[in-house]
Amino acid sequence: MSKQNRTIKIEPQDSVLLNNTLRLNATVLPKQLENKIIHQDIFEALPFLPEKFVDLLIIDPPYNLTKNFNSATFKSMTETEYENWIDSWFKPLLKILKPTATVYVCCDWKSSVSIYNVLSKYLIIRNRITWEREKGRGALSNWKNCSEDIWYATFSDDYYFNPDTVKLLRKVLAPYRDENKQAKDWFVANDGTAYRLTYPSNLWTDITIPFWSMPENTPHPTQKPEKLIAKLILASSKKNDFVFDPFLGSGTTAVVAKKLNRKYCGIEINDEYCIYAEKRLKLAEENPSIQGYENGYFLERNTSFEKLKKDKQNAFISKDLFTTGSE
Ligand SMILES: C[S@@+](CC[C@H](N)C(=O)[O-])C[C@H]1O[C@@H](n2cnc3c(N)ncnc32)[C@H](O)[C@@H]1O
Repeated sequence: MSKQNRTIKIEPQDSVLLNNTLRLNATVLPKQLENKIIHQDIFEALPFLPEKFVDLLIIDPPYNLTKNFNSATFKSMTETEYENWIDSWFKPLLKILKPTATVYVCCDWKSSVSIYNVLSKYLIIRNRITWEREKGRGALSNWKNCSEDIWYATFSDDYYFNPDTVKLLRKVLAPYRDENKQAKDWFVANDGTAYRLTYPSNLWTDITIPFWSMPENTPHPTQKPEKLIAKLILASSKKNDFVFDPFLGSGTTAVVAKKLNRKYCGIEINDEYCIYAEKRLKLAEENPSIQGYENGYFLERNTSFEKLKKDKQNAFISKDLFTTGSE
């Protein structure tokens, strides 16, 4: 195996980490769920969840594809069956939301319609984010699938959204100067390149899927990138807010919430994925960094502040240089 392979592995002794998880058999208080993983089938846990405690709900359900989740196979269904399945757990989940809550639901093009149909019955749909999911070698009989969607909805018109926390540092291809030869909201970094801090749009091309050389990588087949989840958490929650994920998988939402000082709770049915999630939560204590997010800014794919800086003694951008991005 390559020396650069940083995929997280679990050892037999890691199974004790399951002792940190909860199984619900009676209604609990929000405090009892704080920073916990519920190791259970969502349908068993749902009746025992308390009401109105969640500020941000992030959902990454099995998509409508036949997929093996560690020997439990999710089988693709007709669109109507899938929509009914989504509704069967989404409707009961609504009770956990505060009236000011935000909801994000991940999907691919095929499940996107079903998810929209269910969400729009209960929530105000605000937008759909599309992110470039660059992976795989292509398809011979169809266009290679290279994108995923995230539906963005809120419970009411009273919701939190802070785009200043999710600005992207981008290369400027045609740097414009005004009549006095002054740069228009861009600057030249120590590497000689022009950069601008931009507000995020609903098209994200700066995301890298976790792969073997990244320290966040696990063997989970549909693990989401920490950078992707960090954008959702930063824009739509404040420090100490409660973030909930009912299909936690390898723990990405919980790990990022912990790194960003939010409270978290998630549900995951599979033992091994719960262990990976617990292990990642422990690792986050030693290393709270999020790849692609540095000094309060998101960076384009495969860049880092260190790479951008020629002279490491000279920080090339100060935090207060661009407090009011305009694009
Ligand atoms: C798409 S994955 C989530 C991946 C996650 N976002 C991550 O970054 O690792 C969906 C997860 O839901 C879990 N799952 C499927 N059915 C479930 C159920 N009935 N109750 C709880 N978890 C379930 C699967 O084991 C799988 O890990």
